[in-house]
Order: sequence, then C-alpha cells, then structure tokens
Amino acid sequence: MNRALITGGLGFIGQHLAARLLAEGFDVHVVDNAQRGSVDAAVEALRAHPHYRLTIGNVADPAVLGMLGDGCTHIFHLAAVVGVRNVVQQPYRVLAGSVTALSALLDWARAQPSLRRFVFPSTSEVYAGTLAAFGMAVPTPESTPLAIADPGQPRTAYMLSKIYGEALCRSAGVPFTIVRPHNVYGPRMGMAHVVPELLARAWQAPLFGELTVYSRDHRRTFCYVDDAVELMLRLALAPAALGGTFNVGRTAEEVSISGLAKLVAETVGRPLRLVPGPDTAGSPIRRQPDIGLAVAATGFIPQVTLRDGLERTFRWYRHHVFEAKAMAPRGPEMAGSASLPP
Ligand SMILES: NC(=O)c1ccc[n+]([C@@H]2O[C@H](COP(=O)([O-])OP(=O)(O)OC[C@H]3O[C@@H](n4cnc5c(N)ncnc54)[C@H](O)[C@@H]3O)[C@@H](O)[C@H]2O)c1
Repeated sequence: MNRALITGGLGFIGQHLAARLLAEGFDVHVVDNAQRGSVDAAVEALRAHPHYRLTIGNVADPAVLGMLGDGCTHIFHLAAVVGVRNVVQQPYRVLAGSVTALSALLDWARAQPSLRRFVFPSTSEVYAGTLAAFGMAVPTPESTPLAIADPGQPRTAYMLSKIYGEALCRSAGVPFTIVRPHNVYGPRMGMAHVVPELLARAWQAPLFGELTVYSRDHRRTFCYVDDAVELMLRLALAPAALGGTFNVGRTAEEVSISGLAKLVAETVGRPLRLVPGPDTAGSPIRRQPDIGLAVAATGFIPQVTLRDGLERTFRWYRHHVFEAKAMAPRGPEMAGSASLPP
C-alpha cells in the first residue's frame, strides 16, 4: 500500500492533498504543529477515515519523527511558515525553522527503505529577485536563473529558505521532486491572501459601494487548489518527475488585480466601483508560470477556470466564514490585510 506522510497537513494545501490521497487509496499520516492549520470540520471529516492519522507536533522534533513508523512511500513536506505578514515579522523563524525542520526530515527520510518520493514545495517567490533586477521570460520556465533579492529585507527570508531547501533536497540522497506553487487559491486558505481578502471586502461592501484595489496593475495567474493538488500528486507518482523541478500553477488566464477584483465583485453579486489603492511594497509586478514541464511529465492540464474557481471559493467562504461569523464591516481580522501582496 502507498503510505504518505504530509507535514503541514492541517494547512491549506495539505488538507486538500490529504483528501485527494485518501481517495486514491493512500494511507495518510499528517504531522502539523497546528500553529496555522487547525482541526476544523474539514479535518474532522478526514479523521473519520480509517486510513487517516494525525499527529500534532513539530516536524523538527526527533520524538515526533520517532513516532512515525515504517513503510512510508511518499513524503510531502508542506510544513512552512507562510504568509507575508508572518515572514516580515519573524524572518529568523522562517530561515532557521525551515532549515532545521527540512534537515531533520531529510535525515529521517534517508533511513526509509520504502521511500519512493520526497516532494518539496518551494515557491514562485524564487523568481522574484530575477524579475525585479534583470527582467525575465513570462510565462517563466523553471530554467530561469535565480537572483537573490535584498537579504536585508525580512521578506527575502522566505525566498532564501526555499532556495536553500531546494538545494538541500538535491544533495540529500533521497528520491526527490521539487514543486514551485504559484498563487494557489480555494476554500480554507485563511484570509491573508488576495482572493479571500477581496471576496471578504466585496461581501462587506454596500450595494453600489466602492472596492479599493491595491497593486491593481500587477498581473497573476491563479490556480484552483484541486488542480494544484492533482499536479502535485501526479508529479509525485510520475517516473519522469524524479529529480526534477516543476512549476505548479496555471499559465492560462493571466489577469490584472483590477481584473480579478471585477470578477470577484461579479461573483459576490455586488455592483461595486473599483477604486485604485497604492501598490504593495515587495509585490512582484507579474507572475505567470510556464507549466509545460509539469504537463509533459503528468499529462494533466489544470481544469478549473478562474470564474469557476472563484465561484467555488466564494460558496465556501460565504457558508463557513462570512455568514457563520456574521462579519461586521471592516472587522479586526481584516484590518491591515487589505494591502497584502497577492
Ligand atoms: N498556497 C500557495 O499558493 C503556495 C505558494 C507557494 C508555496 N507554497 C508552499 O506550499 C506549502 C503549503 O502551503 P499552504 O498554503 O498550505 O500553507 P499553510 O500555512 O496553510 O500550511 C502550512 C502548515 O504547516 C504547519 N507547520 C508550520 N511549521 C511546522 C512545523 N515546524 N512542524 C509541523 N507543522 C508545521 C502549519 O501549522 C500549517 O498548518 C508551504 O511549504 C508553502 O511554502 C504555497
């Protein structure tokens, strides 16, 4: 039987990945320190599955790794400190914590004779220094030379931790695949990202009111979480992806943040006037992955259109967050999040 370990499996991508792996017949063991992810209704539903196991603990803790048991065939190391605000406030934790956790897990992985693949999610942020300093091809291929942004900026800690993580995986002596996710969105991703943040503000706005759009000319392609998870799973299983690095995201439907805001207002069903806000410092002006390598290795092309994905995401947030919390206009949870880079 295939046995997957998902570190960070209570988080956004991890919970969706766990559900997908269970559907594929995997035994799934999640390890998460519950610092960001939580045991909510979606996780409780997974816990009812006989092949799902959850350990709350730090993946860098040898005692936790010692409890994992044998027979692991696939590791998805999703545990990381993410989110621009966290990274800016705690750059040391991002750098030291990521490296410590990844080194400990790679040591453990090397001792697993059954291991077939170690999947390490890096990030689209690895291209941000190149884009800012030199310009680069867009859609961006994985072969793009990586330039380090200013190490004096706390935000650079995340990019550095992922570039170093990629190098650790390459040299650790495990069968690895590196993925670089680009703007994955969907249900249960928290509020500190551009899609849920715009949905929340559009939901709270009065009819014919205003929706402020930050970094409005910045351009992105967004990938619905089911598509991102499908690509990650197929890459983990594909012989052609062994030892490779792959963008995970969508090349299609590049959109400006203004265009996204317009779609969000339509999705929420509010006629709103878009009002330009300032650009967010440090936010890349353009991000669009070339996913040709991933498609060639897996035969899978992301299926969910932006309009469809926004509908699905809105339905979830409306039911589980907006109406559940009876969100007041500009509540404290949203304060200050409006300028988060997408
Ligand atoms: N969501 C995206 O668009 C995106 C883009 C680029 C890269 N990624 C990468 O994909 C992975 C998953 O992202 P996500 O959006 O699901 O993040 P997330 O924050 O929702 O999930 C990460 C989980 O890891 C857990 N965690 C953190 N440190 C831990 C530790 N030391 N031990 C155990 N658990 C720990 C957190 O509690 C959280 O539940 C991350 O590595 C992230 O860097 C995501």
